[in-house]
Amino acid sequence: MTKKLLRSLAGETLETPPIWMMRQAGRYLPEYRATRAEAGDFLKLCYNPDLAAEVTLQPIRRYGFDAAILFADILLIPEALGADLWFVTGEGPRLSTITTEADFAPLKPADTVNDHLAPIYETLRILKTELPSETTLIGFAGAPWTVATYMIAGRGTPDQGPAHALKTENPALFEALIDRITDATIVYLSAQIEAGAEVIKLFDSWAGSLTGDDFDHYALAPAKKIIAALKARHPDTPIIAFPREAKERYLGFAKATGADCLALDNSVDATWAAEHLQKDGPVQGNLASRHMVTGGDALVEETRAIVQAFSGGPHIFNLGHGITPDADPENVHLMIETVRESRP
Ligand code: CP3
Repeated sequence: MTKKLLRSLAGETLETPPIWMMRQAGRYLPEYRATRAEAGDFLKLCYNPDLAAEVTLQPIRRYGFDAAILFADILLIPEALGADLWFVTGEGPRLSTITTEADFAPLKPADTVNDHLAPIYETLRILKTELPSETTLIGFAGAPWTVATYMIAGRGTPDQGPAHALKTENPALFEALIDRITDATIVYLSAQIEAGAEVIKLFDSWAGSLTGDDFDHYALAPAKKIIAALKARHPDTPIIAFPREAKERYLGFAKATGADCLALDNSVDATWAAEHLQKDGPVQGNLASRHMVTGGDALVEETRAIVQAFSGGPHIFNLGHGITPDADPENVHLMIETVRESRP
C-alpha cells in the first residue's frame, strides 16, 4: 500500500503526516470561482460530473494534497429524498421544511435515492481515472442529525433550535426522519464506494449541540448503524467520523461507532487528544481555519505544535473545519511546507 493517507488510516505512524483540507475545493481559489461561473451556480456544479471532477482536481494540481474529496454537498441527500433545495448567494442553503407528518409523508423511500444521485457516482468514476496514483479519493455524507437539522429548519441555524424542538415535541416523527436519512445515507455511501471512493467521511457538523442521551441516540447510534452496514458490504473501506465539537464525547467515539479515524475540530487540545484519543487509533486535524486567513509566524508555530503533538501515532493533518472564502491561497502553501519540513 503506497498511498500515504491509507497507510495512516491503517494505523501506521509516518515520518510526516498526509495532508488534505476540508473545503479544499472552494471559493478561496480563483480557478474554483471560474468553474462555478461556467456551471452557472453551486448546485449545477455539484450535478455536472465533468465540472465537479475538475474542481475536485484543482487543489490537487495546485498543492499536491494526499487526498481529494469528492465535490458535492451533504444537502444532496435531502434533495434526493424529495425536499426542495436552493442556495441563496451570500446566505447559504434553503430547503422546504419538515415539521409535520404531512411534510414527511411525501418523502421518497431510501432505496430510491440512487436515481437522483447518479451524476455524483459519475464524478467519482471520472476522478478514479484522473487522480494521480498517490492521491486517495474520499467520498462523504452528512451524518443524520446534521442533515436533519437543515431538513427541519429549512436552513442553517446557530443553535439547531427547530430540530431540538421537533425532537421534544414529536419524537416519533423526528426519529422517523433520522431513520430515513440513515437508510438513504447507507445506500448513497455504498454506491460511492462502488464508484471509486476509497475512504468515507461522515460529517456531523452539529454533533456538539447534542448532549447526554440525545448524543447517544442521535449522533452515536446512527453513525454506528451506517458504519456497520458499510463494513458488512465493504470491510476494507476506512471510515473517518467527524462529530464536530463533541468535546468530551470524542472519548470512545471511534470504538463505539466502529470508525477507523476521528476527525478533530480545533477546539480539541492536540496534546490531550494525543493522549486520550490517538491511543485508540488514527486522528485527523486540527489547525484552526483562521490561520489560512492570517498566515505568518502563528500559522507556522501552530502547525508545528500539532504535528509534534501527534507525532507518536497515526495522524492525518487537516484543518479543524472548512477553509473559508477569505483565505489566502499562499497560506495553504506555507502550511503544507511547514508540515512536510517539520521533524519532531
Ligand atoms: O470539502 C470539500 O471540499 C468537499 C465538498 C463539500 C462541500 N460541502 C462543498 C461546498 C463538503 C464535504 C461539504 C460539507 C457540508 N456542506 C457540510 C459539513 C461540513 C461543514 O462545513 O460543517 C455542511 C454543513 C454543508 C452544508 C452547506 N453547504 C452550507 C451550510 C453551505 C453554505 C455555507 C458556505 O460555505 O457557503 C454550503 C455550500 C457549499 N458546500 C460550498 C462548497 C464549496 C460553497 C458554495 C459556493 O461555491 O457558493
